Amino acid sequence: MDSSHVENDLVNVLFTEEQIQDRLRELAGEIEADYEGRDILIVGILRGAVMVMADLARSFSRHLEMDWMAVSSYGSGTKSSGVVRILKDLDTDISGRHVIIVDEIIDTGLTLSWLTSNLTSRNPASVEICTLLRKPEALTMPVEVKYVGWDIPNEFVVGYGLDYRERYRNLRDIGTLAPHVYS
Ligand code: PRP
Repeated sequence: MDSSHVENDLVNVLFTEEQIQDRLRELAGEIEADYEGRDILIVGILRGAVMVMADLARSFSRHLEMDWMAVSSYGSGTKSSGVVRILKDLDTDISGRHVIIVDEIIDTGLTLSWLTSNLTSRNPASVEICTLLRKPEALTMPVEVKYVGWDIPNEFVVGYGLDYRERYRNLRDIGTLAPHVYS
């Protein structure tokens, strides 16, 4: 669906489908240039990163490999609990590999900071992060991110993989959720 199907639920459209595709093509171009002559494994973090993975991967004009992880951020508590658990691990042995973690958003930074150290401990040749969105004002953990689509304000955004109670993931655009939906 697109934003016209849920227009009463959105304050505004932050990024259209077309803007997202254009930005992903630019990021793929940067990554291709940086990794010339080296094999790449991109690792998508379920579930939100499904759309970014699918479109980013198809923006490349070279081979790459894809794998997936699922983590439960924050355990049973809130974001401040700081607990990350692996629900589905990689199927790939990443030792000696060039790994790029792909996610759709970095909020507090907890998930990606934890994942970076977890994957680094498996002796890869390198680990970098590519995220479509980042909220600089929400960061509580330092995370070094090499590829960022856009920095955005600390607002509740949905669409293109981002959910509110499992809805809106299949929205083609990214929009700011109207407070009446969640209050
Ligand atoms: C989102 C996103 C990141 C994480 C970022 O996943 O995909 O993995 O939150 O937040 P942080 O920077 O505060 O750690 P979420 O836990 O919502 O799961 P989902 O991808 O299944 O929606």
